Amino acid sequence: MSERTPVIAGNWKMFKTNTEAAAYVAEFLALVADARAVEIILCPPFTCLSAVRRELAGSSVRVAAQNMHFEVEGAYTGEVSAAMLKEIGISDVILGHSERRQYFCENDADLARKVTAAMAAGIRPILCVGESDQEREAGSTNDKLKSQLDGGLAAVTPGQLPDMLIAYEPIWAIGTGKTATPEIAEEAISFIRETLARQFNPEAAARVRILYGGSVSPGNIGELMAAENIDGALVGGASLDVGSFARIVKLG
Ligand code: 13P
Repeated sequence: MSERTPVIAGNWKMFKTNTEAAAYVAEFLALVADARAVEIILCPPFTCLSAVRRELAGSSVRVAAQNMHFEVEGAYTGEVSAAMLKEIGISDVILGHSERRQYFCENDADLARKVTAAMAAGIRPILCVGESDQEREAGSTNDKLKSQLDGGLAAVTPGQLPDMLIAYEPIWAIGTGKTATPEIAEEAISFIRETLARQFNPEAAARVRILYGGSVSPGNIGELMAAENIDGALVGGASLDVGSFARIVKLG
């Protein structure tokens, strides 16, 4: 009903030095030169953001940070603000990745503040949600997704919703090689879209792009993208190899 441009994002997590990143980008640009109908985002570690942005000059590939703090500045050792990212040309930021929630104790209230701070600075948030293995087995997947959406998007207006991205990343599929089947991913993502329609309005929910993440590879991207509500992918491990990520971009 509404045309949503596909998005393929590569989350490098804590991988790649500047030297490795520069070599990757040069090769990547050549490989995806003819990929037009897809929005591409590279998400390198903080130390590589400037170099990757520079190497991408003149291309439409976007660059995302993997996290940021919600304050504009302050005594928060080790943290980086939205304004700092904006200044170096960063367009997007991943917020609430399950690894941040799990290892760095991020909660939905923190994420609501981060989403607001990113948007205020003109940086597009990519809010991640997803259930654990135990939650899926206990039949509480939808409750978990709803509470993460209620919490993380608490300060977002219906007008802002289509300007951000949501990523459904079931924790049990991340880094495990155990991809959600297209049916499972579609079911969860269409639940997310219905929840957003109630939380905001049906128009905003129909326009917001929702990505799937969790063991995406060149072998499964096609069937995932064929699902009605899946608008793209947030790729971890398979984005580290330039050839495999370029194939995912082309198939997406
Ligand atoms: P993998 O693709 O390695 O499973 O990671 C997914 C992910 O966490 C992307 O943010």
